[in-house]
Amino acid sequence: MKAFEISSPGAIDNLQLVERPLPQPGPRQVLIKVKAASLNYRDLGVIKRGMPGRSGAMVPLSDGAGEVTAVGAGVSRVKVGERVAGIFNQNWIGGEAPAVSAVLGGALDGMLTEFIVLDEDGVVPIPEHLSFEEAATLPCAGVTAWHALITLGKLKAGDTVLVEGTGGVSIFALQFAHMHGARVIATSSSDDKLKRAIALGAAAGINYRNDADWDRRARELTGGRGIDHIVDIGGVGTFVKAVSAARTDGIISLVGVITGLSGEIDLAPILRKRLHVNGINVGSREMFEAMNRAIGSNHMRPVVDRVFPFEQAREAFRLLEAGAHFGKVVIRIG
Ligand SMILES: NC(=O)c1ccc[n+]([C@@H]2O[C@H](COP(=O)([O-])OP(=O)(O)OC[C@H]3O[C@@H](n4cnc5c(N)ncnc54)[C@H](OP(=O)(O)O)[C@@H]3O)[C@@H](O)[C@H]2O)c1
Repeated sequence: MKAFEISSPGAIDNLQLVERPLPQPGPRQVLIKVKAASLNYRDLGVIKRGMPGRSGAMVPLSDGAGEVTAVGAGVSRVKVGERVAGIFNQNWIGGEAPAVSAVLGGALDGMLTEFIVLDEDGVVPIPEHLSFEEAATLPCAGVTAWHALITLGKLKAGDTVLVEGTGGVSIFALQFAHMHGARVIATSSSDDKLKRAIALGAAAGINYRNDADWDRRARELTGGRGIDHIVDIGGVGTFVKAVSAARTDGIISLVGVITGLSGEIDLAPILRKRLHVNGINVGSREMFEAMNRAIGSNHMRPVVDRVFPFEQAREAFRLLEAGAHFGKVVIRIG
């Protein structure tokens, strides 16, 4: 079988298409013919900087979906022919996050491969109405947005949600917020992308490149009350503005650190506003299953910006790197 490997991290061009032996499922494992995989911002980091604790060649990408083609002894959760996706952290089934993570395209080999063997506990059935390309977007970006807004955030109709940018996590957050009857304000560096966000259900858009005071504009859009729930993917460069945009008792889901991980932050407004800052780390299989039920009953479709053929995996990474996408970038494999 064919797979893409990265053996010397540093650049997208270092991704190599190689031949690997077809893996065989052991007891309580399943063999999956991967049909599609999707890219997340983190995967760029793995390609460029490698994975701490791993040496030698690794297969990247945490997210993928495919068909079960064989099962090992004792498998009872999954059948041959079933359409499944892998869960991001193979060790996190439900409840508290495990002390040791096993992330696909991280500690474990990932989904940029024609076949993969996973534990039967490490997969979920995908919603029937979704194509493999659409389902491949769910494990990281989808579950992260669901965890932030629904599992922890307990979002309710009438709340106002602000999503930063129009990448994978933020567009899922927009869709889930809209599905739950919340009012969504989107920010983006691009007016065209804001138009697409509004077409998807956002009530308003703010161009954060043209309007450095997007926090003030966001408060104005709530009549001065402030935002109930902000999904912060920017990190140190956006967190202070998220604090400013939030209402008293509001929630900030701290998801991403695109602009940086550390810096000076004035804690006073967090105390004064009694803000709830929730650190998010993707989510569990239970969250994935709950999300899939909601996606199924609402016939929600993930937003796929572009699908690349397997051989053009490097081009897919370049599109993500350029930030030119809206929603998700996908690679078709099978
Ligand atoms: N903690 C977790 O569990 C978790 C899970 C998934 C992702 N993440 C993190 O969340 C972040 C987003 O991931 P992703 O996969 O959704 O990324 P992505 O699809 O690559 O989207 C990135 C988007 O961020 C927006 N952006 C960039 N700089 C910005 C800024 N200064 N202010 C506001 N928006 C900005 C851009 O949107 P526009 O083009 O519209 O401007 C860009 O398209 C990354 O840091 C990732 O590592 C964390």
